[in-house]
Amino acid sequence: DAATLLDTLGRPLRDLRISVMDRCNFRCPYCMPESKYGEHFRFLGNDERLSYAEIYRIARLAAKLGVRKLRITGGEPLLRPDLAELIGQLRSIPGIADIALTTNGVLLPRQAERLKQAGLDRVTISLDSLDPTVFARMSGGKGDVKDVLAGISAAEAADFGGGIKINMVVQRGVNEADVLAMAEHFRGSGHVVRFIEFMDVGNRNAWQASGVVPSAELVRRIDGRWPLQAVESMDRSAVATRWRYQDGAGEIGFISSVSAPFCGGCTRARLSSDGKLYTCLFAQTGMDLRQPIRQQASDLELLQLIGGRWRNRGDRYSEVRGLQLQESAGPTRKIEMHYIGG
Ligand code: GTP
Ligand code: 5AD
Ligand code: SF4
Ligand code: SF4
Repeated sequence: DAATLLDTLGRPLRDLRISVMDRCNFRCPYCMPESKYGEHFRFLGNDERLSYAEIYRIARLAAKLGVRKLRITGGEPLLRPDLAELIGQLRSIPGIADIALTTNGVLLPRQAERLKQAGLDRVTISLDSLDPTVFARMSGGKGDVKDVLAGISAAEAADFGGGIKINMVVQRGVNEADVLAMAEHFRGSGHVVRFIEFMDVGNRNAWQASGVVPSAELVRRIDGRWPLQAVESMDRSAVATRWRYQDGAGEIGFISSVSAPFCGGCTRARLSSDGKLYTCLFAQTGMDLRQPIRQQASDLELLQLIGGRWRNRGDRYSEVRGLQLQESAGPTRKIEMHYIGG
């Protein structure tokens, strides 16, 4: 019964984040550094990735267990051919109230219109700097700010309207000086910029605590320029704390997974592109759903697998990371962001 599926900490399953593509056309150093994702890196093969029919089936069953929101991520999800086709299938699932996409934006000019028509509700576009040099560095030399801005324009033209968010990962000494310019650029646009603390996801991004700019510091900095006012959120599972400009120029958000963890309300499960179900962004292992699906498991069997996994869930990594980082004698194996999805 969907109403009673809770994990060991009393959290329901509400969101499913689906990575449809482990590859990306960028090499952001905090996610897929070129040094580790060069031409010899072995990405998944086409037959290793879940097909759209398989993804649809898992999403449909997840909806029966309580999922209401879907987010399509990667890697770069727009690298997957005909993504609009998948969106259309997901749109037809009873119970799914919201479908969002996280993208670096470069391929949006070609696809935004079709995605909207297929039923995509919202897009979140990653943009770490408006400064061409800084942006080039933060995309691993692969990206051009102009292309991302063109992607944002395409999303506007396709009428995503209030459904557009801009994600900026802030790193000390890398792009922290670009925060005010980012805020200024999107003030009054109706798009919500979210400033994200650099996280220790995966094992390949050379994370150091010194690279984190605590959100409180950024709030002070922006508030000093354009006075802010806190926005109360009713949504216990929201990852961002919200602020609005007192002059009416809109809203911004802060995602503070390092300085102020939000595991208590975490209702998110993640599906990797090869069909593993993860109950935390920092999980060490996922539950393989691809093999049972390809071996003709019934809906009931799959529901029991997914439901059982959620019922046993006790993840709250961000809340205990302080301890784990101190204790870790050797490298703990964590899952990479491009594979599990932002
Ligand atoms: P909506 O509420 O659907 O608009 O999206 P969101 O607020 O969940 O934000 P989004 O999906 O854009 O996530 C933004 C960033 O927040 C991600 O790229 C991650 O860096 C971080 N994030 C999202 N979910 C989690 C989570 O469950 N745990 C942690 N630690 N970080 C998360
Ligand atoms: N820390 C914080 N956010 C990250 N992302 C990827 N890697 C990290 C990290 N190390 C998120 C960003 C980006 C999205 C695609 O993934 O939000 O916009
Ligand atoms: Fe690609 Fe996004 Fe990772 Fe950058 S953060 S490498 S754009 S998946
Ligand atoms: Fe959820 Fe894990 Fe993130 Fe905590 S660290 S909010 S449990 S995904």
